[in-house]
Amino acid sequence: MKYSIKAGAIDKINSECIVLIVWSKGALSDEAKLADKVGNKSIDKIVRTKDFTGKLGETHTIYNPAGLKSKRLLLLGGGEAKKLNPKNAAKMLKAGLQSTYKLNAASVHFALASIEIKNETPLWLYKRLTLESEAASYRYNETKSKKSKTVTTKQISVSPAAGAHRKSLESALKQGSAIGSGINCARHLGNLPGNICTPTYLANQATELGKKHGSLTVKILSEKQMARLNMGSLLSVSAGSAEEAKLIVMEYKGAKADSKPHVLVGKGVTFDTGGISLKPGGAMDEMKFDMCGAASVIGTMSTVAQLKLPINIVGLVGAVENMPSSTATKPGDVVTSMSGKTIEILNTDAEGRLVLCDVLTYAERYKPRSVIDIATLTGAAVATFGSHVNALLSNNDTLAKSLIACGETSLDRAWQLPLWDEYQSLLNSNFADIANIGGPRAGTITAACFLSRFAEKFKWAHLDIAGSAWNSGAQKGATGRPVALLVEYLSKQKA
Ligand code: BES
Ligand code: MN
Ligand code: ZN
Repeated sequence: MKYSIKAGAIDKINSECIVLIVWSKGALSDEAKLADKVGNKSIDKIVRTKDFTGKLGETHTIYNPAGLKSKRLLLLGGGEAKKLNPKNAAKMLKAGLQSTYKLNAASVHFALASIEIKNETPLWLYKRLTLESEAASYRYNETKSKKSKTVTTKQISVSPAAGAHRKSLESALKQGSAIGSGINCARHLGNLPGNICTPTYLANQATELGKKHGSLTVKILSEKQMARLNMGSLLSVSAGSAEEAKLIVMEYKGAKADSKPHVLVGKGVTFDTGGISLKPGGAMDEMKFDMCGAASVIGTMSTVAQLKLPINIVGLVGAVENMPSSTATKPGDVVTSMSGKTIEILNTDAEGRLVLCDVLTYAERYKPRSVIDIATLTGAAVATFGSHVNALLSNNDTLAKSLIACGETSLDRAWQLPLWDEYQSLLNSNFADIANIGGPRAGTITAACFLSRFAEKFKWAHLDIAGSAWNSGAQKGATGRPVALLVEYLSKQKA
């Protein structure tokens, strides 16, 4: 999709479709007022029928609108003008984009210059438009013989908001589309089935990404190399699988070589059967999504490379498949992690933390400014928060606060749970330095407590995305979260 700023009065725009905002109870936005004037009250007449009332996200298409050059006019409901906060604005844009993408218009113009968002600048709106546009044009077709129709729109333009510099508006459009493409990248990797999206496949995707960007160097570590690093914990998870585990190392350089990086760590369990602590069969297919943390790291790296962020960032992914077999790890087995700490594996289904702990230790070599791990780690996070929240735990309050704020702006929200010492003793083991589970209570917290033992050398935050990373039911599919949150956070950092 091409995005641009197109100036000029609404009756001079010759896009194949024009989108105008109408507020609730049929109040017209400034642009809609002008169109109504040149069109002999044609919009007013529609609003009077009450067939279209301007409710948030409501749409109505008019063909050959009077007074306009465009063949189509899409009226888009903005709800109450005073209540147009970021969340509502995103909903409005999404509805408008979904409706226009059903049409065959090659070019679409959004007349948004007069639209004001509560507590945000016009730049936020323009950025969100292209983000939502990319997200709305995603189709999963990979493994279907009947492909769904792809979007025919090739160009989206927006009128320039008054008082904003053209350059910054253009940059906002670019940012949003880069974030949207990172989100789609993460969604797509998440949606691919476990027999395609294996650890090796993830590694190949990362390698391909590295070839696209000179600023991004990608290294893949084999099981043999990980064994030499003493990653006994990560390797214990793939012990039962015929698929080779991979450690994916993506180094992005946007600043001087000696500028310390921010590190992202993703859980890349390409299928989680639970191992010998086998999961029940119902909905087990959804455990192909257990690599959504990894997908969000790869998607984010793709976005930051497109945006050429002026900092250094390292993306690390522990990619493994968790299978039961005669070579699989058994409950009660004790392994030694890269840190030297021994771990009693009481439940082979608590495998994500076993992967992440070794990758966190690997991250120490970068002397990172901050480390964020992203993982579909616990069913307890789903029980606690449902699907709307990225569960956040951190050993640094400033980092946690910053992530919460970035979640608000990017509408990819996080909420913090306590990481108090009181919970740590639940991980005591009679046979090792630490057990890999903390019992049935406070599952999201004890999982984070486990990770915290391997994150003592840096500022660290953990995002448990078990609830936010995919939708179940009829809308089953990966969401691409929390790419938007991560990009927002990284965009705020300085070298
Ligand atoms: N990948 C799962 C977490 C999960 C479960 C995410 C359901 C989304 C939906 C993780 O590897 C896991 O199995 N966690 C266990 C931990 C338990 C054994 C301590 C869980 O949450 O049940
Ligand atoms: Mn598991
Ligand atoms: Zn898992």
